[in-house]
Amino acid sequence: TKRKLWGGRFTGTTDPIMHAFNESLSYDQRMWAQDIRGSQAYARALVGCNILTPDERDTIIKGLDQVGAEWKAGKFQAEADDEDIHTANERRLKELIGPVAGKLHTGRSRNDQVATDMRLWLLDEAEALQTLLGELLHVLVARARAEVDALMPGYTHLQRAQPIRWSHLLLSHASALASDYARIRDLRPRISVLPLGSGPLAGNPFAGLDRAAIARDLGFATVGTNSMHSVSDRDFVVETLMWASLTMIHISKMAEDLIIYSSAEFGFVQLSDAYSTGSSIMPQKKNPDSLELLRGKSGRVFGQMSGFMMTLKGIPSTYNKDLQEDKEPLFDAVDTVRRSLQIATGVISTMSTFPERMRSALTPDMLATDLAEYLVRKGIPFRETHHVSGSAVRLSEERKCSLSDLTVKDLQSLHPAFEDDVLKVWSFDESVERRDATGGTSKRAVLEQCDRLEASLAK
Ligand code: ARG
Repeated sequence: TKRKLWGGRFTGTTDPIMHAFNESLSYDQRMWAQDIRGSQAYARALVGCNILTPDERDTIIKGLDQVGAEWKAGKFQAEADDEDIHTANERRLKELIGPVAGKLHTGRSRNDQVATDMRLWLLDEAEALQTLLGELLHVLVARARAEVDALMPGYTHLQRAQPIRWSHLLLSHASALASDYARIRDLRPRISVLPLGSGPLAGNPFAGLDRAAIARDLGFATVGTNSMHSVSDRDFVVETLMWASLTMIHISKMAEDLIIYSSAEFGFVQLSDAYSTGSSIMPQKKNPDSLELLRGKSGRVFGQMSGFMMTLKGIPSTYNKDLQEDKEPLFDAVDTVRRSLQIATGVISTMSTFPERMRSALTPDMLATDLAEYLVRKGIPFRETHHVSGSAVRLSEERKCSLSDLTVKDLQSLHPAFEDDVLKVWSFDESVERRDATGGTSKRAVLEQCDRLEASLAK
């Protein structure tokens, strides 16, 4: 049987179940390109400390290109003994270029190598996720602009509260996601720290190894400060999982709103066929599966985060094999968020809205606060006007009429400050337009939100 790369001190063979338990190639092969890039940069650096001649470097770099080409073409042949992407690539390199391949790993450990690969991989993914999140935000803002005139009930406790613009609701979700957009951008510098050149834990022993040059070569912003920390630091994984969890919480909350609003009882929105499914038995059904999966998958991502944090909390300093458990949660969370962002963008950009249904759900009692504020404008303290308006609500309930059916006389019996102009309170349009302070639901304030959100994406 073939020798494992680390096989020198071993005489027995690995239990096959142990091999399956230990291997990570089945999932870390998706980092093949990063592993090759990292090795090529390391080969260039090894010339600086006279471990490789320029010729040897070129042979190794060309060989690695060939290994990469095999991966790219789907022709890389994994062998039963390959343990992870690092050993697989090196094994293949040696087959292609011979013993000089054995010089590549000088002073390097899989410990600084894997941490480097992971960071390289995540840097690319983080950028892609930020772009997808930006697209979702653009779609939300575009809809908010296009549908700015639609009014609907705003809810607290899922009870009708005050009239709002539909756009205001869309932008409330966009505002949460805009923070996620900023967060993934702010996370980048902490991913972009180079571990390579840390060795297994104590540092690289070969004079002339220029870590700053490796960082520049690979596009890292900074070089890790402490080799023991560098080989074991997975905070960038945790932060990404936390970001992913929070982003999914926001997507889930938005999905939940839309699920409710797409029910027949509300009928405010309807999903396009592209993002709905039918029932296998009830022919009339159109189910918002896309939204339910967005809601459901948030739990899955949160689970990856808490699971990996549990893995991390008990391990001693530097590299321990527990750290291999960083990959599946990270990959799964990244894949899940990526798809979720794409689906959310598709749902939002293709759903239909029913502004008349939204408007017909508005009821005059939702203007009870406006009624109280009417009296405030006549100089009465709000605590008193709140009471007066409450009495008006009670009176209308007693009479089984709507709040706006009370006459000026009825209202005057509750407070003498009511005058004929109180009838203007019963306009939903004026109610939303009065809420014109920055961040409010007036047309101007909503369009201002659109501008601010777009400006934050441009940065
Ligand atoms: N497959 C390993 C991982 O993903 C690579 C590092 C292994 N290092 C070691 N000393 N066994 O973490």
